[in-house]
Amino acid sequence: MIVRNIPISLPVTGEEEWLAVREPLMSGWLTSGPKVREFEQLFAERHHVKHAIAVTSATTALHLALVALDVKPGDEVIVPAFTWVSTANVVLYCGATVVFVDIDPATFNISIDDLKKKISNRTKAIIPVHLFGLCADMDRIKETAHGIPLIEDAACAAGAAYKGKPAGSLGDIGCFSFHPRKSVTTGEGGMVTTNNDQLAEKISMLRNHGASVSEEQRHHGPRPYILPDFNLMGFNYRMTDLQGAVGVVQLKKIDQFIDERSTWASFYSHQLKDIEWLKTPEFSTDFKHGWQSYVTLIDETKSPFSRNMIMEKLQARGISTRPGTHAVHMLNFYQQKFGLSPDDFPGAKTANNCSMAIPLHNRMVTDDYHFVVEVLKSF
Ligand SMILES: Cc1ncc(COP(=O)(O)O)c(C=O)c1O
Repeated sequence: MIVRNIPISLPVTGEEEWLAVREPLMSGWLTSGPKVREFEQLFAERHHVKHAIAVTSATTALHLALVALDVKPGDEVIVPAFTWVSTANVVLYCGATVVFVDIDPATFNISIDDLKKKISNRTKAIIPVHLFGLCADMDRIKETAHGIPLIEDAACAAGAAYKGKPAGSLGDIGCFSFHPRKSVTTGEGGMVTTNNDQLAEKISMLRNHGASVSEEQRHHGPRPYILPDFNLMGFNYRMTDLQGAVGVVQLKKIDQFIDERSTWASFYSHQLKDIEWLKTPEFSTDFKHGWQSYVTLIDETKSPFSRNMIMEKLQARGISTRPGTHAVHMLNFYQQKFGLSPDDFPGAKTANNCSMAIPLHNRMVTDDYHFVVEVLKSF
């Protein structure tokens, strides 16, 4: 039996990133400084926004977005039930109420019909998630939201677009991740994007303890010995210049990475279309997929084995898979704390139990893709 070793994801980092961290290491400026600024500028240009503010993760980006919008106890924030847990956790960090909305298993994104039912006069913000790199249908969400602020959870969607506009420029605030499972990485890291000057200024301060000026401005200003004033209760969510230096190198390769993933995603979709128990990703030409992951949905009424058994059999051949992500309302903490039951969100439950990401990343070779297809077809 042929066995290969195909991880679910592997970042493309190497010599260039290694050389890039030399500069901050040699200069001694390690916290947010010139490299983070350069990364922010490049990111803002690539995503067609006025402001990009680097932080430590998408989770902290989302937290700052909510704090900047003054989300507090008594407010409701709408979150899809099938997403990474932190999309919901950040609402709890603010003492506000999470209102889950079901998803459409056809796209794994927010269900507009359910969204309509969940908006109330306490809804302070909506967090549409662009899951796996596919943008949520932002025009329909906007129509439904009637001016309620939209925070894009674009953790998986760097470089993706909707109707020609980049993710991160589609709502009021966008939040990105540079975790190594994303298409570009800084180890850990995140970015907030916005076209709103006031929000940008507030988020910049909030990530730096609420300080009125950045460390870099103070050190290079006329009176570095005077500590800044602190107008807000902030946090330390600053990205380091080591990460910023890696981000600059990675971001320059984003389109090449996505194009390559897109070519292989088409290969998968073409090759796997006749497997009747396996649904491949579908989307219209309005969407430019960012291909953070290639996530299929298994129809267990037709498949020869259960989803978990298929994953086990693939692993035995050295092909790593993962569920797309989890349904947050089915996690123990959320079930216990809020008395939720799996059937409350049937779309999210199906996605939780039947989704399967297969390997798609820029360290795979042609034979890897052919092998994945061959093994799946053999079941
Ligand atoms: C949809 C979504 N939101 C938020 C996050 C959190 O990102 P980070 O690990 O950068 O905090 C992730 C990470 O996987 C994610 O997939």
